[in-house]
Amino acid sequence: MLVLDFGAQYAHLISRRVRELGVYSELVPFDIAAKEVLRKNAKGLIFSGGPSSVYDERAPLAREEIYDLGLPILGICYGLQVLVHQRGGKVVRSNRREYGKALVNVVEEVALFNGIPNPTTCWMSHGDAPEVLPEHFKVIAKSENSPYAAIASGKMFAVQFHPEVTHTSDGMKMLSNFVFDVCGCTRNWTTETMIEDAIKEIQGKVGANERVLCALSGGVDSSTVAAILGRAVGKRLFCVFVDHGLLREGERERVESIFKRRLGRNLVVADDSKKFLSKLKGVKDPERKRKIVGAEFIRTFERTSRKLGKIQWLAQGTLYTDIIESAKGAASKHESKIKSHHNVGGLPKKLGFKLLEPLKDLYKDEVRQVAHTLGLPDELVNTHPFPGPGLSVRVIGEVTREKLEISRKASGIVEDELKEAGMYERVWQAYAAVGDDLATGVKGDSRDVGHMVTIRVVESKDAMTADWSRLPYELLEKVSNRITNEVPGVTWVTYAVSSKPPSTIEPQ
Ligand code: XMP
Repeated sequence: MLVLDFGAQYAHLISRRVRELGVYSELVPFDIAAKEVLRKNAKGLIFSGGPSSVYDERAPLAREEIYDLGLPILGICYGLQVLVHQRGGKVVRSNRREYGKALVNVVEEVALFNGIPNPTTCWMSHGDAPEVLPEHFKVIAKSENSPYAAIASGKMFAVQFHPEVTHTSDGMKMLSNFVFDVCGCTRNWTTETMIEDAIKEIQGKVGANERVLCALSGGVDSSTVAAILGRAVGKRLFCVFVDHGLLREGERERVESIFKRRLGRNLVVADDSKKFLSKLKGVKDPERKRKIVGAEFIRTFERTSRKLGKIQWLAQGTLYTDIIESAKGAASKHESKIKSHHNVGGLPKKLGFKLLEPLKDLYKDEVRQVAHTLGLPDELVNTHPFPGPGLSVRVIGEVTREKLEISRKASGIVEDELKEAGMYERVWQAYAAVGDDLATGVKGDSRDVGHMVTIRVVESKDAMTADWSRLPYELLEKVSNRITNEVPGVTWVTYAVSSKPPSTIEPQ
C-alpha cells in the first residue's frame, strides 16, 4: 500500500496502521509518478490528510496519470477533497466546520463499511467540504455537519474523518476492509520479513570491501541496527560506543557487558567525555547543546574511523519520530521543527560517511518487536529511550559536573523505584531533571540551600504525544525521600504534571 503524503503531521500514522494489519506500506510524496507506483507494485493508494485547501493556487494534488492506473484509492480528509476536486466536483470553505468527535451514519452498504456498527463514532478535523460531487460518486455516510462524510465510486472511496486515529472507534476495521477486501492484499508483513528486507537493502548498498561504523548508544534503536548489520555485513561492522560524560548511571558498564561478548574486538568504547564537556562549557541554549553534541559525535566517529582504517558507512538508529520532530529528510515539508534530534538535525552538511538508517520508517514499539525477534535481551528491549545528547537536555541551563551528577543519581533512583514497584515497563520514560533554581531546606538542625529536582514520568505510545503518569503518592514519597537523602546538593523534589503537548518530554 502506498500512502501519498499531502502534508498531515499524522500521514505516517496511516502507513503504520497498515503495517499493523500485516501489509507492507510506505509513505511516498503526493506527486509520485505512475511508473514509480507500478515499480513499487502497489495494490492500492491512500491519499493522506493535509493542511492545504485544494482550491489554493499551490495546493498539493496527485498527478492525473495516477488515476489512469485504475488502482483502488482511499482518500482521507484532505485526500477526500483532492479526489472530489480532481475528478470534477467542487470543494468550498465550509461554514459548518467540524473538529473532534462526530457520529457518522452509514447510508450505503459498501465494502469499506463491512461489519461497522451504524452509527459509528469518528474523529473529524476539517474546514473545507465538498459542495458538488464528481460524476459517478455517491454518498455512503453522513454526519450532522457533513452531508458528504464518506463517498464512493467503484473502487474509489473517501472519508472526511480520520480512520487512522484511535478516536475513530472502527477506523482499523475500515482500513482493514479497504486493504484486504477492496485491494486484495495478503497479510504477509512481519518483523521477520522486515529484517530480511533490511538485510537485503544493506547488502545492496554496502560494497563487498566496504566497512560500516555503527553508532551504538546501548538503547534499543541502535542495538537493533547493530544486530541487523551484524547479520548483513558480519565482521565488516564496527560498533562505537561514545562515552560523552552525559550517560545514565551504569550505562557504559551495561553496554560493555552486553556487547563485548557479541562483538569482541569490533566493539570500540571511545571515552571523549572531557572533549564533550569542555565544548558544552557556558552553553545554555538547548538547540546549541544538541548541535554541539551532534558535531562532537561525528568528530569521535571520524577519529575512530581513522584509527580503525577506512570506514565508508555510518549507521544510526534514527526512527521516524526523530525525523518528524527534526522536520528533515523523509518528513513532509509542512511539519514544523520541534527539536533537532542530534542524529538527524545535528549532522554536518559535509559528512565523511555515507549514511545507513534502516529503522527510519518505524516507530519505537515496532523497533521493540524487531529487537525481540532478533533475540536481543529483554532488559535491552525494554530499556527506556534516552536522548542522544543525554543528560545535557535534562540539565536545564549550563551543563556543570554538579548538575550532571544530581540528574544522574536522582534519575537512577527514579528508575530503581519504578522497577521495584513493577511499573518501569508501563511508562515511556522516567528521569529527574535539574536546573539552577535553588530552594531552602533543613537538614539536621541547620538551614541548607540546595537544588530543586523535577521528576518526570510519562506514558506514551510513540513520543509524539505523552501524558504524565499518575503514580501512587506512596511511590512518589519514597522517590522524593531517597533523592533528598541520597543525592548531595538537593533540598526539594517536584513532580512534572504537564502533558505533551503543550510541554515536550525532555525539559530542553
Ligand atoms: P521531546 O522532548 O521532543 O522528546 O518530547 C520526544 C522523544 O525524543 C527523545 N529526544 C531526543 N532523542 N536526540 C535524540 O536522540 C535528541 O536531541 C532528543 N530530544 C528528545 C526524548 O527522550 C523522547 O523520547
